[in-house]
Amino acid sequence: MNVSELRAKYLAFFESKGHQRFPASSLVPYDVTGRLDESLLFNGSGMNQFKPFFRGVAQPPHPRLMTCQKCLRTGDIEEVGDDSHLTLFEMLGNFSFGDYFKKEAVAFSWEFLTSPLWLARDTTRLSFTVFEEDDEAYGYWSEHLGAAGVAPESRVFRLDEDTNYWPAGSFTKGPPGPCGPNSEMFYWVPDDVPPPSVEPGEYTREDWLRDEAAGRWLEVWNDVFISSDWQGKLRDPARPEKGYEKTGMPDLPFQSIDTGMGLERTACVLGGFRSVYDTDAFQPVFRAMEALPFAGALAYGKDSSVDHAMRVIADHLRAACFCVGDGILPSNNGRGYVLRRLLRRAVLQGARRIGFGETFLYRLVGSVTETMGAYYPELVEKRPVIEETLKNEEALFRRTLAQGTTILSDKLRAWRDGTRAPSTPLDGPTAFMLYDTYGFPLEVTQELCAEIGVAVDVEGYRDAMAEAQERSRGASAMENPYDNVQVATIEHGGGRVATTMFLGYASTEAEGQIIGVRPVLDENGHARPAFVLALDQTVFYAESGGQVADTGVIVGPAVSLRVLDVTKQDGIYVHLVEAEGAPWEGLADDEALALLEQMYVGERVTGRVDPTRAETVRHHTATHLVHAALREVLGPHVTQAGSLVSPESLRFDFTHGKAMTDDELLRVEGIVNEVVWQAAPVRVYSDVPIDEARAMGAMALFGEKYGDRVRVVQVGDMAPDEPSFSRELCGGVHVRNTGQIGVVKILHESSVASGVRRITAVAGARALAWAREQESAVVTAADLLKANPKDLTSAVERALADLKEEKKKRGRMVVQSGGQNATHTDVAGIDLVTEHLAEVEAQDAKLVVDKLAAAGRVVVVFNTADGKVGITASVGAVALAQGAHAGNLLREVAKVVGGGGGGKPEFATAGGKDPAKVADAMAGVAGVLAGMLK
Ligand code: SER
Repeated sequence: MNVSELRAKYLAFFESKGHQRFPASSLVPYDVTGRLDESLLFNGSGMNQFKPFFRGVAQPPHPRLMTCQKCLRTGDIEEVGDDSHLTLFEMLGNFSFGDYFKKEAVAFSWEFLTSPLWLARDTTRLSFTVFEEDDEAYGYWSEHLGAAGVAPESRVFRLDEDTNYWPAGSFTKGPPGPCGPNSEMFYWVPDDVPPPSVEPGEYTREDWLRDEAAGRWLEVWNDVFISSDWQGKLRDPARPEKGYEKTGMPDLPFQSIDTGMGLERTACVLGGFRSVYDTDAFQPVFRAMEALPFAGALAYGKDSSVDHAMRVIADHLRAACFCVGDGILPSNNGRGYVLRRLLRRAVLQGARRIGFGETFLYRLVGSVTETMGAYYPELVEKRPVIEETLKNEEALFRRTLAQGTTILSDKLRAWRDGTRAPSTPLDGPTAFMLYDTYGFPLEVTQELCAEIGVAVDVEGYRDAMAEAQERSRGASAMENPYDNVQVATIEHGGGRVATTMFLGYASTEAEGQIIGVRPVLDENGHARPAFVLALDQTVFYAESGGQVADTGVIVGPAVSLRVLDVTKQDGIYVHLVEAEGAPWEGLADDEALALLEQMYVGERVTGRVDPTRAETVRHHTATHLVHAALREVLGPHVTQAGSLVSPESLRFDFTHGKAMTDDELLRVEGIVNEVVWQAAPVRVYSDVPIDEARAMGAMALFGEKYGDRVRVVQVGDMAPDEPSFSRELCGGVHVRNTGQIGVVKILHESSVASGVRRITAVAGARALAWAREQESAVVTAADLLKANPKDLTSAVERALADLKEEKKKRGRMVVQSGGQNATHTDVAGIDLVTEHLAEVEAQDAKLVVDKLAAAGRVVVVFNTADGKVGITASVGAVALAQGAHAGNLLREVAKVVGGGGGGKPEFATAGGKDPAKVADAMAGVAGVLAGMLK
């Protein structure tokens, strides 16, 4: 059975059990409410997006769901390329939210695995583990096995929280969130007969552990019985890697089920393959590698070391395609760094193991998008940007690879020529320098060292990294005063809560009721003057999709608050507000909460958004126009990589490998303004099923998480099936008609990261303000030159020409008069000439030095202009023979004027920042010179 068949079969089985299909979430771990799960870097299992459903703070569309979830786990990256390890894999899952529980979950798993209608597995080739205290799960598996004539004692085993609690070890270690005991299902993979299982105790727990460790039992599926909410806090918020401290583990409001079946692994064992790489998920990628124009006789299955390299490339390539498809771009931190590591490891395998001399990864993207695209349409949609990103990143790495390899190979000479023992590892700071300066992920350095049998001091590398991070932390601390406060959430009593109704699309003022408050604490646990509150309905937009949060006021008979910021948490709009006078300031959490509740909860209030919202809205629609125009001018690889839409301006980041030309910028600006002047209506479709939105051609934003129903913003009044200039998935607020934007002016285009460009622009009133600023600068400049503004250019040209002429004249005068005020000092028979030329440029001072130079002389001329000091020295042949050295002389002298410099024995220049010290410096020259002469 192949991967596609298993996927289809699983979904069909659970559909027959009343489950509804739910879309896979992004690899960036956004949950179903759109909140980023800070406890994870990547989505590595099907349940992550559902945490709000498990916790009862959001309502699932159906109590039984099923998914096929793309997952990324890099913990076993070293094992990738063996028979069973992958970084990117698919996980099939069935979920219950307060519906069925353990008994039914076990029964479904058993039926799917063993029924002749489904996977029809031999019951003696299955074994199970349960959490050591879970008698119930033990009992359910025993019943099914017993009915099939298999002794449960030989097939069900009790293990501890490290394997049988989800997340692993979470009973004691966390992370915070829904958790529970789990039960894993294993399949006997060897061809021979499985161990005996008819008589109780024929096959013991020790036997099982041994066989499992040897890979004979392969885990294929995991049922998690979600029942508790692990609570705790970071031991050190600045160091999340130090883990959590447990504060409690209350029961969730209801019990739930989360299961995960590894798709490729299961397809592999069920299909009778030796390796996951033999499945149809990978074979097309190998064929594409073999078909590369420079692949020569490359063929999968001929040489195990080449096969291994091809497997690593295929795995990392798949992972990279999915990452970029989900809006992750290569960078030097977080998710972007993991992606960069994957890509660089893949390039290294191709370049060094296989010998691909040209960029190859981007040429293989089609084999992934064609294999997986039917299930993951984002791969097809993002194919141009995936290809562009992989191409740029590989080209960049190939350049640094050449440089870094030379450096590393120099360092490794000591091992190659035997001066260093093979057992000595490469030191950590060097490995870190290669990472920091040459972009070598640690694994790449390890890989290159391993080629000559040298290890890397990984601990030393980590220390060097930690030190560097410490330094950068120091530099960026205190950027945001709210960074250090604990996240202030609004709690509602147990059970499911209503979410805030957002009224801000239609108006900027509305009534509502304060339904919850929460103090914001400082690092000592005392309430700050600002606090957060929630309303049952609000007009304030919460920051998302690049559009900044609204500001404004919330007022009522006994309420007068200024809204500083708004965020969305589990569907509740949380307003950060401040009041005149704050009697709760400095109180402990509980006391502050009690006072705030008494003062505010239940109050009927009016929310009023600041008028600057109108500017934000113009900028937001203008952003959509810029996006569409960029794709028209540059091509479909242009994808939004971020944006910031505020009252002041719009900023739009997009994927594109090189700087835009002036002509391209003019064309983009022209297209955008044409659409503005057409006064096209902006049409919004709310609550569209995501598949329909895609069919409409709506552009999804890079890396943005969408639910199963979305909002589509379209420019123009056309029907959904007619082409439109711009159609985007977007939750933001927009103008009703593009004419309201007035005009859009692009201000800059620049680079933000490798392969990502940024456009900054202004619209409407801000564009007018910008034009006025420019105008005023022109008028002022023209006034200064006593010219008419329209003749400014020629007036400036004339002024510059005059200035040049004046400078020349002055230079001639300086040289003529140079030496007239010079001081002559006899230093051991050498004529030392020093002079200070005020308001003279360095090039003229140099001419004076040339004029004064003579064989028996040392000339030192100081010039000062614009608050800076220049020093020029020449040493004649006789003085030279006696030991005078211009460079050394100036190195000392320049220190006095707060500068430095140096140069050759016969001629040198230096600079300094302290004109007030020129006299001191001049006075010191003779002493320094005397010290040099023989
Ligand atoms: N969350 C569990 C796992 O990933 C089951 O889906 O193994």
